[in-house]
Amino acid sequence: MKNLTADELREMYLSFFESKGHVRIPGASVIPENDPTVLFTTAGMHPLVPYLMGQMPHPAGTRLTDVQKCVRTGDIDAVGDSAHLTFFEMLGNWSLNDYFKKEAISWSFEFLTTKLGFSPDQISVTVFKGEDGIPADDEAAAIWRSLGIPDERIYRLPREDNWWGPAGTTGPCGPDTEMFIDTGKEKCGPDCRPGCHCGKFIEIWNDVFMQYNKNEKGEFEPLGRHNVDTGMGVERTVCMMSGAATVYDTEIFAPIMAKIDELSSPEPGGVDPETALRARRIIADHMRTATFILCDPRGGVKPGNIGANYVLRRLIRRAVRYSRFLGIAPGFTVKLAETICAKYKHVYPELEANLPSCRADLEAEEARFNQTLDKGAAMFAKVAEQLKAHGQTQISGKTAFKLYDTFGYPLEMTLELAKEQGLEVDVAGFEEANRKHQELSRTTSAGSFKAGLQDNSAVVTRMHTATHLLHAALHRVLGPTANQKGSNITPERLRFDFTWPEKMTDEQLKATEELVNQWIREAIPVTKKMTTVEEAKAEGAMALFGSKYGDQVSLYSIGDISKEICCGPHVENTSELGSFKIQKEQSSSAGVRRIKAVIGNLS
Ligand code: ALA
Repeated sequence: MKNLTADELREMYLSFFESKGHVRIPGASVIPENDPTVLFTTAGMHPLVPYLMGQMPHPAGTRLTDVQKCVRTGDIDAVGDSAHLTFFEMLGNWSLNDYFKKEAISWSFEFLTTKLGFSPDQISVTVFKGEDGIPADDEAAAIWRSLGIPDERIYRLPREDNWWGPAGTTGPCGPDTEMFIDTGKEKCGPDCRPGCHCGKFIEIWNDVFMQYNKNEKGEFEPLGRHNVDTGMGVERTVCMMSGAATVYDTEIFAPIMAKIDELSSPEPGGVDPETALRARRIIADHMRTATFILCDPRGGVKPGNIGANYVLRRLIRRAVRYSRFLGIAPGFTVKLAETICAKYKHVYPELEANLPSCRADLEAEEARFNQTLDKGAAMFAKVAEQLKAHGQTQISGKTAFKLYDTFGYPLEMTLELAKEQGLEVDVAGFEEANRKHQELSRTTSAGSFKAGLQDNSAVVTRMHTATHLLHAALHRVLGPTANQKGSNITPERLRFDFTWPEKMTDEQLKATEELVNQWIREAIPVTKKMTTVEEAKAEGAMALFGSKYGDQVSLYSIGDISKEICCGPHVENTSELGSFKIQKEQSSSAGVRRIKAVIGNLS
């Protein structure tokens, strides 16, 4: 194992694949071109989709290698732990209908053992075990065996683990073989295997054999081509090679962390060490991502309220929020962007070229959000003064909620300030107020769904989310004219009416059901944001546009599968639905069909 810097790793990888006949191509913009199904480039294959599909030959040939800037913000709330990042660099090599499994796997093995210096004994792999009529990848397993990886370290796993893609909702995809390095730690239990998150096995590389296309109906059809798409994360690999405890402890983050520490002046005895550690990581990660987005050569993403703009705003605002825990003075976002630019500009010259506009955008957004936070702090000071004047020590849930709802002041900041002042916060009361508020906005809102919701029990919430998936699946299977006419949910079943002129065929019903179940298996986060009807429409949201909505509406998104104006409530992740089954399809009225369906129990 060699201790490598990111610069060394990039060069080693790209020149290795050049020696195997690949052409080094520049990575693409982090803001995707011509792909409405995703907000950011999420993988190295993403900009290559037309070539992987065979729509046109790539000007550089059929063997390509590059390093791609990627943004994945699905797990933004998990950032702060030791591993999650919203921005990372992905090394990749591609065969566009050229070589296939034998070469791809052999070269991966050669690079891991001869270049990175791993012993073959440290390598475990997974291969696709076959599912839904798609055969097991015995060929990949045989190639690994021929390279000396014994059967007991070749794990055969289902689609959930060993299938990659497409990047958006449709496109090229296929079974993959993933490579894991055994860190030598004890197994956490009898079921510990590659894919387990205990830290024993760390995934280092993924070779995808792209022979399928997922079509608009959600079916996997043969692509008629044999592509290879691989991905190795730079940050994770550098971390593993250097023996650093986390990605934040590598040379990649070193100058960013050092700058954060230089700017920090936490109050003595203030924030607890765990919160401080999380805050440092969140600031480092979010500012790195925001800087790359703002300096992107394609440009066009600015802090705002919809789509990619909203993601960027969330990143910056979260960094600002957490900066307060560390006593970092305003103006820090620009300073960090400068540090990030200095670290990366020799690899990504756009950082330097676009730094002036990035600075201006960060300054404006940070100032805007600081005003909001300051208003909250002023109100907090008043509250604290009054409480103390009355000899009280607890901030009521209602007051904490008002700070949050009216001034955008997050509960965690209220808790911190309260601690400083020797006060307590009624957190349960806050949650109760929050829940009441959500209920109130649901029942007073003019959204038509409320009529269909009988009670707010967990099962009803789950079924409600299932209706969004069902609606999206019907769009995919039947087309965009299959529109919701109404829905009614009881704890026993959901009913969904939609425009469609004839009885659905068994195939259509099966495809719809399978699509919903697939999305449940994919464990897609459900997110909500407040916006205007106009903006929601512009984003392509579905809604009963004939209905009256208020100025602000809540827009629920399920990954990039579904976007609907709706009052909620919804689950946080599609996995909470367990499973989905259509029980009946029948006529409701002329030109309107009705589906009755149930969801499974959570295991
Ligand atoms: N596209 C594959 C991935 O992201 C290589 O893992």
